[in-house]
Amino acid sequence: MSDKIKSLNKEFPALNGEFSGRRLVYLDSACTVLKMGCAAEAQRRHMLLLGGCGGRRSMHSLASAMEEEFHSARSRVGSFMGAASPEEVVFTAGVTDAANLLANSFPFTPKRNEVVLSPLEHNAVFLPFERLAAAGRIKIRVAPLKGFRVDMDGLADLIGPRTALVCMNHASNIFGGVSDVAAAARLAHAAGAFLFSDDAQYAPTHGGGGVMAGADACAFSGHKLGAPFFTGALCVRPGLLERLRPWLVGGGTVESVKASGGSYAVKYLGGYQGLEAGVQNYSGAAGLAAAIARLEQAGFGNIRAHVSGLVAAALDELEGIKGVRVLGERADLLNGSLITLAPLKKGFSVPDFNLFLNRQVRGRMIAVRTGRHCADLACLNSGYSETIRISFFSYNTPADAALFCGSLRRYLALLK
Ligand SMILES: Cc1ncc(COP(=O)(O)O)c(C=O)c1O
Repeated sequence: MSDKIKSLNKEFPALNGEFSGRRLVYLDSACTVLKMGCAAEAQRRHMLLLGGCGGRRSMHSLASAMEEEFHSARSRVGSFMGAASPEEVVFTAGVTDAANLLANSFPFTPKRNEVVLSPLEHNAVFLPFERLAAAGRIKIRVAPLKGFRVDMDGLADLIGPRTALVCMNHASNIFGGVSDVAAAARLAHAAGAFLFSDDAQYAPTHGGGGVMAGADACAFSGHKLGAPFFTGALCVRPGLLERLRPWLVGGGTVESVKASGGSYAVKYLGGYQGLEAGVQNYSGAAGLAAAIARLEQAGFGNIRAHVSGLVAAALDELEGIKGVRVLGERADLLNGSLITLAPLKKGFSVPDFNLFLNRQVRGRMIAVRTGRHCADLACLNSGYSETIRISFFSYNTPADAALFCGSLRRYLALLK
């Protein structure tokens, strides 16, 4: 482990947590990363020392200080994601919020009303569009899987003159690896469509978002990189940003309201201002900016190398264990941060194994994720509906992976 990673890991006090006398071994960072002290401190300081309202509502000095801090967080988030300017950043509560915003403010027309989804889309992205489809407002088409990756030829076949938007999961939360957002963006653009990239799993260990690879919009969640819950952003390039129609409306979004003949003519602000309705999570944004700054200081190259090394170490052991199947190819998995296993052995109970990891490993509580991983499209398309996922971040060590593999062997040995 490099010195920069060692120093970064001092930011995560929860690593020292004990549960009923058992030390935590946290292999569930794809669900949420443990939180960073510097992020909590930045959020706390912001709440206690500032605590006023941003967004250019009030014109006193406290409000100006708030807005300046909010803008500086916007700049930090924009440069992290690869935005050309802070104006491309819309603060959100995370990817779920961002995808609902995008779906409901997207400029669909009767001639361009189809959304093509990769089969790896998380429910956070799939469901907002599925809901519009169920209401008869758009059509959705789901590309096929090829092995455990997106079938890019299948994706190309679905994109046509009616396609308005293509959604591409950048790094899968169920099958690991990384998708080719640049190729998907080229396909979308050739058909006159926009491309959205879900960077929830990509941003925390690669740094940056899909706009760097040509996407028109991308989103990430702060809690998945050690920042406070309910923080994150949607980054939108100007060509799409200027066409979005504010969906969640309210204070701070209005340019003018005029009364005319018993009704009202409302003109909304353009750009991010029209999309951030009501007071915002100003202190959360300060925590988010602090977390990003700390990760950048450690270096995303270092974080990536460390996490890939953990995936490699875990694969070396898992490939020798009969009774489970590793989903996906080694070369793909090394680009991601997680490994998903399907039980093969008769009598293997995923919930029991979960309990075993919680209660039957001496002195340790191993936290993993089991089930469908909120990735119903991938489950339906692959036929795997109950799997076990281990996922890594900077604070994991090869010993964590080895402890999990040893525990898996012990559980399998208990089965007849
Ligand atoms: C790939 C992916 N997209 C979207 C989400 C939803 O993120 P959030 O719950 O932070 O909105 C997740 C969360 O697990 C995810 O893994």
